[in-house]
Amino acid sequence: MALNKARLDRFLAQHCQISRKDVRLILAQKRVKIDGVVALNIDEIIDNFSHISFDNKVLQANTAYYIMLNKPIGVVSATSDKQHKTVIDLLDYPFKNELHIVGRLDLNTSGLVLLTNDSRWSERLTLPDRKVPKRYSVSLKNKLNQDYISAFADGMYFAFEDLTTKPAKLTIISDYQAEVELVEGRYHQIKRMFGRFRNTVTALHRSSIGNLQLDESLAEGESRKLTAIEINQIDK
Ligand code: URA
Repeated sequence: MALNKARLDRFLAQHCQISRKDVRLILAQKRVKIDGVVALNIDEIIDNFSHISFDNKVLQANTAYYIMLNKPIGVVSATSDKQHKTVIDLLDYPFKNELHIVGRLDLNTSGLVLLTNDSRWSERLTLPDRKVPKRYSVSLKNKLNQDYISAFADGMYFAFEDLTTKPAKLTIISDYQAEVELVEGRYHQIKRMFGRFRNTVTALHRSSIGNLQLDESLAEGESRKLTAIEINQIDK
């Protein structure tokens, strides 16, 4: 759900079909509550997830949903697709069509995909300024060496987008295995970065986004709701 912000007086005037003058009156009479707290200011900003009541009658109570999915290879990170199964097709929640994807993965990448209807929360994970780290396990066709570490840390120029990638952390796990931490998500970024070394990514798996780790008990294609602790783990 896109986040719609509104001034409280406008919301109340519309929902209760009263004048702005009457809004002032009902606020002064302490008859309106936002998230359980008496509202007093006409210019208070509310959004779709603010719980709003008037004389204890609920005017708005939308529920925010947060899901983690272990995306298998071959499933597309989209809400609809003519050719492939989508991440939404894998879900079994009545609200699944309200969700949007928080950071897509390529068709042949597996691992952690987050979905929510709360765009304020998803923005905290995706806005470039936030620099939220995303961790990937990478398997490669050719042997790794130390040169990769500095090349990833220095950033690489992508002529098509005319940009240099932000510093990325590469840790060599074994000759053909690395862990890469990105703070952005350019098109096919990891594959293109290894491509600079004429090396081919043979498997790519996202294990975490910020503090959120993929729950290892989730088999490929399985999902679960995030816990309150996990939801609030994302920096405000
Ligand atoms: N980099 C890629 O190349 N693909 C992904 O799915 C994610 C990061």
